[in-house]
Amino acid sequence: VADSRLGALLSIEHPLLQAGMGGVAGPDLAAAVSNAGCGGTLGLYKLDGPTAAELVQATAALTRRSFGVNFVPEVVSPGHLATQVEAALEASPPTTFFTFFGPPPDEVLARIRAARRRTLVQLGTIAEADRAVAAGVDACIAQGIEAGGHHLGSSPTQELTAELHRRHPRVPLVASGGIESGGQLVELERSGADGCSCGTLFVAAAESNAHEDFKQRVVAAAAADTVVTETFAIGWPSRPHRVLRNRSVEERETLDSSFIATTTIAGRRYPIPRFSAAVPTSRTEGRVGEMALYCGTSCEGIDAIQPAAEIVEEFLATYA
Ligand SMILES: Cc1cc2nc3c(=O)[nH]c(=O)nc-3n(C[C@H](O)[C@H](O)[C@H](O)COP(=O)(O)O)c2cc1C
Repeated sequence: VADSRLGALLSIEHPLLQAGMGGVAGPDLAAAVSNAGCGGTLGLYKLDGPTAAELVQATAALTRRSFGVNFVPEVVSPGHLATQVEAALEASPPTTFFTFFGPPPDEVLARIRAARRRTLVQLGTIAEADRAVAAGVDACIAQGIEAGGHHLGSSPTQELTAELHRRHPRVPLVASGGIESGGQLVELERSGADGCSCGTLFVAAAESNAHEDFKQRVVAAAAADTVVTETFAIGWPSRPHRVLRNRSVEERETLDSSFIATTTIAGRRYPIPRFSAAVPTSRTEGRVGEMALYCGTSCEGIDAIQPAAEIVEEFLATYA
């Protein structure tokens, strides 16, 4: 385990986390990233307790290193979140860390602390960070607007990182949004980051559950092909999100929300309306290219679908 503050906190070798991504980051990806010495993270999104427990166990079976489990409190009820957290606590090894998209209720943080696990909360504003620090989180993840997926604030990654570090210098800080190289992490460390979290970089990993077509589009895209929009609001309203510009974004005024695809989640088949927040996975069929293709400006530096271990190796080659 490395000598970095983040490495020591989470029992990982390199200060690089893979963001928990609903539908995309399953056991194979999380375990592959952890086995490469970084913080692989399983995305639980809206999954029920038994499915969450099954995936946590499957991840633990694939790696002996520490990994994370990610929750999105605002897309589930407080009761559902508590069920997911209990399932993850019960099914996971003691080194497992818990990451949240936005601050969870204080009771949830207290429960996890009582179980002696680490918590990291991703935030987009200073006000949210102040609250999370007061509630006793172990680390903050500062999310900037370069990020792929839903946005918690409206500041660029470097700016928010620097400001959070000035306010809370003793709290370990992870930068998130638009990062795809070790060189960028070196820069962000100058602003006070202890490490970084990458989502898009791992969407195109061989082990990711993203649909093949989605992976190829991320590989082909430049930063200018991404856009921040509120197009894909069904199932997750009121949060702008960065996606690849596609037909649904461009023609949203004239298109309707009829079904454009079907997907399988935990053995059940669901129809997907256009404008759904659901991502296309390897279990999705239909007009995949017109679905929500969450993607950060970090796609600029992604040129191939590669095993996670190679992605980590190339990242570390520019981190010196
Ligand atoms: C496909 C995709 C799915 C995401 N799903 C989640 C999620 O379920 N939970 C979460 O905390 N963040 C999620 N995020 C956001 C990441 O936590 C992070 O803010 C973002 O990926 C950082 O920017 P980057 O994509 O440029 O690395 C997702 C991002 C992407 C690209």
